[in-house]
Amino acid sequence: MNFADSEVINAILIREGYKLTPDDNAADFILINTCAIRDNAEQRIRKRLHELKALQRQRPVKIGILGCMAERLQKQLLEEEDNVSFVVGPDAYRKLPIILRQTINGAKTAETTLSEDETYADITPVRLNGNGISGYISIMRGCQNYCAYCVVPYTRGKERSRDPQTIVNEARMLFEQGYREVTLLGQNVNSYKWTGDTGNEVSATGFPQLMARVADISPLLRVRFATSHPKDLSDELLQVMSEHRNICRCIHLPVQSGSERILKLMNRRYTPDWYLNRIDAIRRFLPDCSITTDVIAGFCSETEEDHQATLQMFRKVRYDYAYMFKFSMRPNTYAERHLQDDIPEDVKIHRLEEIIALQGEIALENNRRDIGKTFEVLTEGTSHRSKEQLFGRNSQNKVIVFDRGNHHTGEYLQVKVTDCTAATLKGIVVNSTEE
Ligand code: 5AD
Ligand code: SF4
Repeated sequence: MNFADSEVINAILIREGYKLTPDDNAADFILINTCAIRDNAEQRIRKRLHELKALQRQRPVKIGILGCMAERLQKQLLEEEDNVSFVVGPDAYRKLPIILRQTINGAKTAETTLSEDETYADITPVRLNGNGISGYISIMRGCQNYCAYCVVPYTRGKERSRDPQTIVNEARMLFEQGYREVTLLGQNVNSYKWTGDTGNEVSATGFPQLMARVADISPLLRVRFATSHPKDLSDELLQVMSEHRNICRCIHLPVQSGSERILKLMNRRYTPDWYLNRIDAIRRFLPDCSITTDVIAGFCSETEEDHQATLQMFRKVRYDYAYMFKFSMRPNTYAERHLQDDIPEDVKIHRLEEIIALQGEIALENNRRDIGKTFEVLTEGTSHRSKEQLFGRNSQNKVIVFDRGNHHTGEYLQVKVTDCTAATLKGIVVNSTEE
């Protein structure tokens, strides 16, 4: 989301005549787009701010903090970090040109008003050093699920959906520029809903319809999406996915915990059985779909039994990839107001390590099952390990590395998997697909 937002910010500033520089020493402004989801994300920003003081002693560069940390701390951040000149929340980016001008005159500004309707729908993001092949499109903003541990509803405000026509236009434009993959982004894409100016529920565009419209742009344009809330993942979406080969076979479905009691405490509004039922539905509609997840270890009051339930969930679902975190208490959340962060740090770390180890085994076993299969791969770039090799992804979002030959970025290739690690598949090109 932040990456997509930075591209909107880039567009807003370029329009005013500003230019990006890769060189800290040439910059008049440094804008840092921040995350507040866990405490360590914020600590990294504080460290970076401290490091930038050396640069500021040499040159009069102004620093602005944008994004969720800005929204969470507001003007307190100006007080705590004396080298910061402006603080701008996620719904106030249109004001950046004015704020930058005020800053030149020495003003310190915090602009953190949240909006109920800002979606930046009319702003065409200017892409930031991407690969020219895959791009993000933000389709909605905010979240009002209020999971007990999460700051997002407070830092990104109420949920609102963007006009579908502007989404389709943006995707088409990317395709015409040579992009071959778009990822539609929202905190909970399954609750995307556009009722237009009429507010008419009957003719509303929901997420399945939006996906179909984007996928219909071209069979050569791959479409991905993130993130889905398990409570809202509908059969209708799975049906639309099964009807479009270019909607990628990969669903990110954050489980957070495998324990019914903890899920309730987290206010996730599903049970492990409901979650497993959704997994069964995915397998039924899309037998070749990969499934990935997010999980939190050591949430308030989590017992060894609860933790075992999470490990059991991992064994049952057999995720292809997982983002695994230890719980970090966030200010003002329901958890902070009503629950105790009572799991000792060493226990949290131990549980997280157990989940990571188990997931490593599962990912390797899953990848081994891919050996011998041939996948359509969209080539994204040169492998980090060797210039002689390219890498790309299959529909399941797994990275595959293969010999370069005469192939180039942006090409669709048929690649047969010959070997793997827990993180990567290795293969050989068996046939190019004509574009
Ligand atoms: N502590 C740890 N992890 C968290 N996440 C969100 N809030 C917290 C927190 N307070 C994780 C969830 C979410 C992902 C984006 O970050 O797993 O899905
Ligand atoms: Fe946070 Fe829950 Fe919203 Fe995801 S759905 S952003 S975890 S409140």
